[in-house]
Amino acid sequence: MRSASLYVKLTENIPSMGLLFLVSLHGARMLRQRGEKQADGRWFIPAAERNKGPILDILARVLPRQGVVLEVASGTGQHVLHFAKALPGLAWQPSDPDPELRESITVRAKEQQLANVNRPIDLDVTRLPWPLQTADAVVCINMIHVAPWSATLALLEGTKALLPIQHVLFLYGPYRRFGQHTSKSNEQFDSDLRAHDPEWGLRDLEAVSEAAASSGFVLAEVVEMPANNFSLIFKRR
Ligand SMILES: C[S@@+](CC[C@H](N)C(=O)[O-])C[C@H]1O[C@@H](n2cnc3c(N)ncnc32)[C@H](O)[C@@H]1O
Repeated sequence: MRSASLYVKLTENIPSMGLLFLVSLHGARMLRQRGEKQADGRWFIPAAERNKGPILDILARVLPRQGVVLEVASGTGQHVLHFAKALPGLAWQPSDPDPELRESITVRAKEQQLANVNRPIDLDVTRLPWPLQTADAVVCINMIHVAPWSATLALLEGTKALLPIQHVLFLYGPYRRFGQHTSKSNEQFDSDLRAHDPEWGLRDLEAVSEAAASSGFVLAEVVEMPANNFSLIFKRR
């Protein structure tokens, strides 16, 4: 799905709130409970500020020292700029299918003037061919529950085509484990997502791992993250 929406769990570290943050970026309607677009075009999501540090801790350990990292579904650009600053040996390639979000990333990159962040590219995982032929790692944060299952399968196949053997695909987000939600807030988030679009929703970590195995990846590591999220580290076989 060529999503025009940022749909972000606001329950990270605030389990009692159970709120959703929805920004409909293409349509005239803009439903917002949290987050903001600044006058210069930057979008800001509080959850990305909270999780970028814990995610970076994992990336610093599992990514190669050098090479190109493709970020799929970069959203506001908060993550990619944070990672690029901390890991200057890597060249970062942000991407998003949404032009307004690509603009947000561009504004952030200009502001921070980091030499190792490329211009964001228009990448919808379901649209082939991808506008990139190779990468040394792929990072995708909080996309697969905000898109149909077909987007997960497309992400895996597209990444397989890009990555050399043994290189890393990193996924982050909320997952069910063995068909069960890991928290009440995730269960609520899942039902809100499905009410918005029946094709969206939290995936079983095991189903993602199985699909990844069919696409030629090995699940090397699962890391429990704050606020009932997981980091999944896959390696290309
Ligand atoms: C919840 S936001 C996450 C953004 C960012 N990664 C973060 O965690 O703050 C979901 C993102 O997935 C992107 N997206 C949705 N469907 C996509 C697709 N088929 N291909 C690539 N990106 C997609 C949206 O444009 C949006 O930026």
